[in-house]
This record gives sequence, C-alpha cells and structure tokens, in this order.
Amino acid sequence: MNTENTPKNTGQLLQSAKMATHIVDLRSDTVTKPNKAMRQAMANAEVGDDVYREDPTIKALEKRCAQLLGKQDSLFVPSGTMANLIACMCHCDERGCEMIIGDRSHIALCEQGNVAQLAGVFPRIIPNQTNGTLDFDQLKMAINSGEDVHSCKTKLICLENTHNFCGGKILPMEFLEKVYELAQEKNILVHFDGARLLNASVGLGVEPAEITKYCDTVSLCLSKGVGAPVGSVIAGTSIFIQRALRCRKSLGGGMRQAGVLAAACMVGLDKLPITQQCDHRHAKQIAEAIKRASSGIVKIRDEEIQTNMIFLKLVTNEITASNLCARLHQVSPEEKNALDKEIFIKCSSVGSDIIRLVTNCNVSDADVKLVIEKFTFVLEEIKTI
Ligand SMILES: Cc1ncc(COP(=O)(O)O)c(C=O)c1O
Repeated sequence: MNTENTPKNTGQLLQSAKMATHIVDLRSDTVTKPNKAMRQAMANAEVGDDVYREDPTIKALEKRCAQLLGKQDSLFVPSGTMANLIACMCHCDERGCEMIIGDRSHIALCEQGNVAQLAGVFPRIIPNQTNGTLDFDQLKMAINSGEDVHSCKTKLICLENTHNFCGGKILPMEFLEKVYELAQEKNILVHFDGARLLNASVGLGVEPAEITKYCDTVSLCLSKGVGAPVGSVIAGTSIFIQRALRCRKSLGGGMRQAGVLAAACMVGLDKLPITQQCDHRHAKQIAEAIKRASSGIVKIRDEEIQTNMIFLKLVTNEITASNLCARLHQVSPEEKNALDKEIFIKCSSVGSDIIRLVTNCNVSDADVKLVIEKFTFVLEEIKTI
C-alpha cells in the first residue's frame, strides 16, 4: 500500500481539515466517556469513606448489583482484574492448590499471571474450544482431589462469559449447568469472569441471575458494556464478600469517596439492556458489511456475531493486521476526494493476522454507517494494489 502521501498523524489532519472529520473508536468497550447524565450524577453523588463502609452510593450500587446477579452481596472494586484476583485469592486459600482456566481466558492471557505472582495459586490451563467453553471430559480429568501427594488440589474452575478472545461468545447454559453440577460433585467452586456477563444476558434474553445461578461468585465490569468510567463488582455469598473486603484492602483496592464512581455506574445500569442490544445490532451490521466488501482480504473469524465483538482474520499477505489498523486510522487524499469527509477508525490488532472491533455505547447508528463506508473504501483500495 502506498501511504507516502498520507499525512503522518491524526493531529496534523485534524488541523488541516476543512471538511467533516469523524473518529470512531472500536478498540474496546472500555473507551467510552461518561455521558452528561453520568457526569451530573457524579456531581450530585452522596459520598462517604468507603473503607469505613460509609459511602451510601457505593452501598446502593452493591445492593443493586447483588440483586441483579442473584447473589447475597456484592463489593465494588476498581477493576475487573482485581475482582478476578480477589475471587481466586478467597477461593484458593491453601498452599499447593490450583484453579482451572481456559487457555484463551483473560485471566490466562491478560492479567500478568497475577494468580501465581500475587496469590500463589497454580493455574491449570486447559484449551478453550472456539465457543469459549472447555471440553467437558478434559475438564473432568483436570480436577485433582489432592489425595495424591504429588498433585495440586483443585479448588476452583473459572469460566469467562462472554468470552473475549473467543469472539465475544456466550457460553451455552447447558454447559454452565453441567460444569456447576460437576463442581458440586467434586466439592470445588466456580467463578465466572463476567466482565461482559450483561452482554450474555442481553444476547440470550434471560435475566443475569439465570446465568449466575451456575456459579458461586461472579465479577462484572461496569467500565465496559455499561459505559461507566471506572469500576467492577464481585458478587457472592455474604461470607465470601466479608473475605473479599479484606482481600480488597490488602491489594490496595479500598477506595474512599468512590461514590462519585458508583453514581456513574448506576446511570449506566439504568440504560441497560437497551444500550447493549444496540451494541450487538451494530456489531452484526458492521460484520455483515465487511463480509460483503472483503473478499480475499479479511474474513469474519467467528461464524456468528453473538454480542459486541468482531474478530477479523486476514486472509492475504498483502497487509498485516497492525498495518491495516494503521491504514484505517489514516485518510488518504484519494479517499478524502471520494468520500468527501475524513473518517478515522480506531481498532486493535491481536497478533499478526487478527483485528478486533468492539462496539460500545458511544458508537451511534451514524458511526456504524461511517465504519462501513471506511472499511468498504479501504478494502477496495487494498484489492487494487
Ligand atoms: C474478560 C475480561 N475479564 C477481565 C478484564 C479485566 O478488566 P479491567 O481492565 O477492568 O481490569 C477484561 C478487560 O478487558 C476482560 O475482557
């Protein structure tokens, strides 16, 4: 691709542009900015010191999330990573114990091995299937009772739902039920990394608690599909939450007047599931359009778009994933002439041949049209190189 004539960066372009300029950010559902209603709620939030458990807005959010997730109690924490780590620390509380996770899970790939690094827990990693599940027989085989002096003792199974690196897939309910039954039979616990659990609930058209009845604890990110600027919750029994509270403090996650954050989370939750239905529809529309425009360049990696994620797999050697991302974030003079506007798309490359696009509540119907226009132009341009 000849990019010699293209300006070097967006800033330069924005300055020189006379025509309409549009930026659509599809890198993640974490990139959203709090809307007016959220900012208003943050400004008006009643707060207190949450380490003393005196913040009324946090208490209200925790109560609401516990109900939503069908658990006795919940705890507000700064991030999904901390929520998962707290669950692992509380559940795997003996030396020489292990937890079972999928090889494409966020915990295995993107949390710095913190369960080993910080909690001293051995992660037993087994392959994820393409739909985000684990092979049931392999899972059964992986469970160690600890009777054999050579083995770790399995205390926990973690499942991710929806499954990020498996394309935003919703784990089938039958699978969740089967795993939970197995865990109970073996006297071990199940934790859901439910960073995007509400996307699963919206996608299936069932209440979140219908899904979480198949786990002991669940984490949920409010800074993703809910659109809040910061925060996650972890939910479980009241006894578990008492232990989680101690863990949170040890990890430096005790926040003070964090009701300002919880207030924004509340506003985001008020708008669900409408916003996420919209995100899912947008993802399907973009995927369909790319499918139509992309012959020989990229293909949609996963057969079916179930939630708000699209993974594109490059099927040509003409361009790498990072170069295609860079091209989508540039505007060539020819493109400016042809489209009569400047469209910058931000997306992420995952390895050399995969691109991830994530729709989110800051992406409008009009943005989706722009994304389609941009992809159609750029894919056509690559075909003619
Ligand atoms: C599935 C999943 N779990 C956990 C996390 C961690 O969340 P946080 O970035 O809030 O630590 C992410 C973040 O992208 C995620 O995708």
